[in-house]
Amino acid sequence: MLVFKTKIDLQNHLLNNKSNKTSVGMVPTMGALHKGHISLVQKCVSENNITVVSIFVNPTQFDNSEDLKKYPSTLEEDISLLKQVSDKIIVFSPTASDIYDGNIISKTYNFKGLDKVMEGAFRDNHFNGVGTIVETLLTLVMPDNAYFGEKDYQQLAIIKNLIKTQNIPINIIGCPIVREANGLAMSSRNERLSATLRKEASFIYQTLMTAKKKFGTESALKIIEWVKSEFKNRNDLTLEYVQIANAETLQPVLRKQKNKKYRIFIAVYANDVRLIDNIPLN
Ligand code: PAF
Repeated sequence: MLVFKTKIDLQNHLLNNKSNKTSVGMVPTMGALHKGHISLVQKCVSENNITVVSIFVNPTQFDNSEDLKKYPSTLEEDISLLKQVSDKIIVFSPTASDIYDGNIISKTYNFKGLDKVMEGAFRDNHFNGVGTIVETLLTLVMPDNAYFGEKDYQQLAIIKNLIKTQNIPINIIGCPIVREANGLAMSSRNERLSATLRKEASFIYQTLMTAKKKFGTESALKIIEWVKSEFKNRNDLTLEYVQIANAETLQPVLRKQKNKKYRIFIAVYANDVRLIDNIPLN
């Protein structure tokens, strides 16, 4: 398995190995790989001749330095998990100064309001940081296809918007959330949950599923109030936000319209571990 640590080495390798006939797929990650990432990598490997997986904990997308410090770093384990999928995968694991050319700051984008709600409202500058690193990684590798998970649905919508507005000719492929047996969405952060909290956190998905049942007959506002009241009774889980939004514009829904798709989005603290999730409502 090839592991490149610098942009120049990765680019040279791709220059020598890419031709018009080879399709290249990329899975950008921050490492601490779990079954959710592996499902993206498997899809990428099955649909492309060359797969590049980047493993880089991007400092510019963290608004909280403690969160960045606590982010798990497990490169050796990640590489051995990837080897089990295919030993032909190319791993790109740069340093921050190499990928940012020594200037570790984010660009400022206009994401047309997609970044102002939910995660964007609670994590200052987060999506400018995501946009900067994703644009850097994708323009470096120039894959035909790039794969992202729907757990970060807002991120996926913003990346699709970025690719369109910057005219970058890459297919962005969104992949379904992979869940633990109890429904908890797979996340690198789950590793920081105690066994008890991991069980308790399944309440997030159960609540979303009940909200979905209610969506047929109740107003969005009523459902939001119901979710808030459910979390008030929990000592272990603190609700940060819950939002029912248009699946395309991500703007909160005031009145449901026929022929529009809606999703429910949630962010919850399980002790100091921040978990997000979302599901389609119709
Ligand atoms: O979803 C992630 O892991 C990150 O936000 C990404 C897309 C790899 C950018 O750092």
